[in-house]
Amino acid sequence: MAPPDQPHVVHLRAGGTSVVLRLDADRLPCVLHWGPDLGPLSDADLRPLLAALAMPYVDSPMASQEAVALLPQHSSGWLGQPGLLGSREGRDWSVGFDEVTHEVTTAGTPGWADGPSGAQRLRSVGTDRISELEVVVELEVLASGLVRLRAAVRNLGQQPYQVDRLEPALPVPAEAGELLDMAGRHSHERTPQRRPFGVGHWVRESWGGRPGHDAATLLCAGQPGFAFRTGRVWGVHLACSGNQVLGAEHAVTGWRLLRGGERLLPGEVRLAAGQAYASPWLLGSWGEGLDELAGRFHRMLRARPQHPRRPRPVLLNVWEAVYFDHDLDRLRALADRAAELGIERFVLDDGWFRGRRDDRSGLGDWYVDEQVWPEGLAPLVDHVRGLGMEFGLWFEPEMVSLDSELATAHPDWLLRTRRGVGPASRHQHVLDLAHPDAFDHVLGRMSALIDEYGIAYVKWDHNRPLVEAGRGPAGTPGVHEQTAAAYRLMAELKARHPGLEIESCSAGGARVDLGILEHADRVWVSDCIDAHERHRIVRWTGLLLPPELMGTHVGSGVDHTTGRRHDLDFRAGTAMWGHMGVEWDLTAASPEERAELGAWIAFHQQVRALLHSGDVVHADLANPALQLEGVVAADRSEALYVLAALDHTLTWPPGRVPLPGLDPERTYRVDVPPPGDRLVRGAGTDRRVPGWVAGGAALTGRVLAEVGLQAPLLGVDQLVLLRAVAVPDPAP
Ligand code: DGJ
Repeated sequence: MAPPDQPHVVHLRAGGTSVVLRLDADRLPCVLHWGPDLGPLSDADLRPLLAALAMPYVDSPMASQEAVALLPQHSSGWLGQPGLLGSREGRDWSVGFDEVTHEVTTAGTPGWADGPSGAQRLRSVGTDRISELEVVVELEVLASGLVRLRAAVRNLGQQPYQVDRLEPALPVPAEAGELLDMAGRHSHERTPQRRPFGVGHWVRESWGGRPGHDAATLLCAGQPGFAFRTGRVWGVHLACSGNQVLGAEHAVTGWRLLRGGERLLPGEVRLAAGQAYASPWLLGSWGEGLDELAGRFHRMLRARPQHPRRPRPVLLNVWEAVYFDHDLDRLRALADRAAELGIERFVLDDGWFRGRRDDRSGLGDWYVDEQVWPEGLAPLVDHVRGLGMEFGLWFEPEMVSLDSELATAHPDWLLRTRRGVGPASRHQHVLDLAHPDAFDHVLGRMSALIDEYGIAYVKWDHNRPLVEAGRGPAGTPGVHEQTAAAYRLMAELKARHPGLEIESCSAGGARVDLGILEHADRVWVSDCIDAHERHRIVRWTGLLLPPELMGTHVGSGVDHTTGRRHDLDFRAGTAMWGHMGVEWDLTAASPEERAELGAWIAFHQQVRALLHSGDVVHADLANPALQLEGVVAADRSEALYVLAALDHTLTWPPGRVPLPGLDPERTYRVDVPPPGDRLVRGAGTDRRVPGWVAGGAALTGRVLAEVGLQAPLLGVDQLVLLRAVAVPDPAP
């Protein structure tokens, strides 16, 4: 043990990650190392670190910040953004601790019964007697090697304490000289952007009551030039579906912090005596390249008890097939075509409820429209179920149209400030779901319909950002409570209807985060299903989510959002890399197209166990026109890759491509499997097809990763699949 006046050093390890922290008696924990596993270290091994990392004194503690706490603390001389900001009407705005207690537990030990196996947790409690506050920080290293971190503040005084910010932070080392995060817009979500990690504060905020189409999603800092397979990189994500902020701060003292928290509105969290506020979890990962960083998120998600375990049913969503044109016979015919192709779930999208003939009205009136559906949905649902498919239905539970019966009867159930409900967006406004009566009403309606029709799947949309989102006559800020109420509603529906699945959609991909994924089983990645765009959107959404949680659909030949025309191999060979679906009027498809699509669906069903459990890998290709990614089985026995050309390649033929992620010591046979083999069908006789395709290539994983294979000739927006299967070792 360290002498009583000396800080302790603790080492948390799991899943290839080490976090070393310094624990002081009057300060919240400070990270000394977050990154690769340092191996077993005794107290005696750890203690010299303090001296080794002690900074030369410059001229004041402010100039030589030796360590920065998980909640950087202004009172310690930290001149960057404090981790906790708040006050009692201007008092008690600076926090300092009389004492801090620390406790380390390992999952399975008493006191942490719910810990995921293999994980380790540090919990520290700081008391500030002057400001009458208690602050708790918890840091866990999960079995996946992911770090998660949150903070809570409790008001120990009698006067209310207003929390303005509570944003924990994790430091990254000086080698992290480049930042990566996402930008985007509707139909163009998760577009990567990079910049040098210079001195200053790069801040990404969401103010619309959801992460947004432009959500940072992950904020990463790494060695300049880091790629998927190389370059050490760290990244954080906030598990929150409301207003939020992610920041990367580079202080003049040299510290580089990645941080995040809820973006609280003025006065949104005011703690009465004894009350507490907890921040959402901030999740941090690192890797030698982005694949390893993403792999920790995927492993953590897959280990959750609620992670989808049964094969993900291929679905047909009728939105781009019929839009608001709901006609029983047409939808039944669509269901017939879907079932013939092996589709397993039929989802009726927007337009089925009272007054919803277009997107201008009806939201909130969750009753089946008697004009369009005189016998209710039963004739369609029975037909769908009779064909052996599950039935899913679209809702937008948090939204309301001003001319709805609901809004007319309960104008006080709408979010508003004293100025009014604010601008409409897509002709709609937001219901105050934290209002107990509004909550009960929506819960009751949804639950009744789910019961009546045996609904297996809810597509949960959210099309208007939360603007002027105040509550009650005073219009006090309501985003925090609204977000919590949406989570509660999802949880309650799932509790009442075991097995119910929820898809999180928000005008496409504006609500993609690990807060909503505590309750949802899939996200709608984007309203743009143009396969060309989807290659990029899915690739970067995949930094956070494994394929089985991302909805990926095959659209019609001409894309509805971009007008691009793509052949079916490119559309289906792109959509099969997630939770596959079809969003196309199959009654208008030719018999040949339907047969081809059926073959792609059957292939997806054959390989989905691999796609939905393996490690996702990306090649860092020198040729910028090509993209190659794949999924490698956990035991490295097989892998499937997709090679796509998304642009004209400058040099021709396109050159070699590596196949990453295989066992370097094993030999694999690589081939181009049907149905994506149209471009190489002349193999053996057509000299334009690379020679190896005819008989398949048998090479070691190391050779495939380091030397690679000649890529087939691909035009823009064409693809091939490459399958690698380990050759059994010869009998000894
Ligand atoms: C927006 C969604 O992203 C679409 O998929 C569709 O469900 C429409 N809303 C329906 O209004």
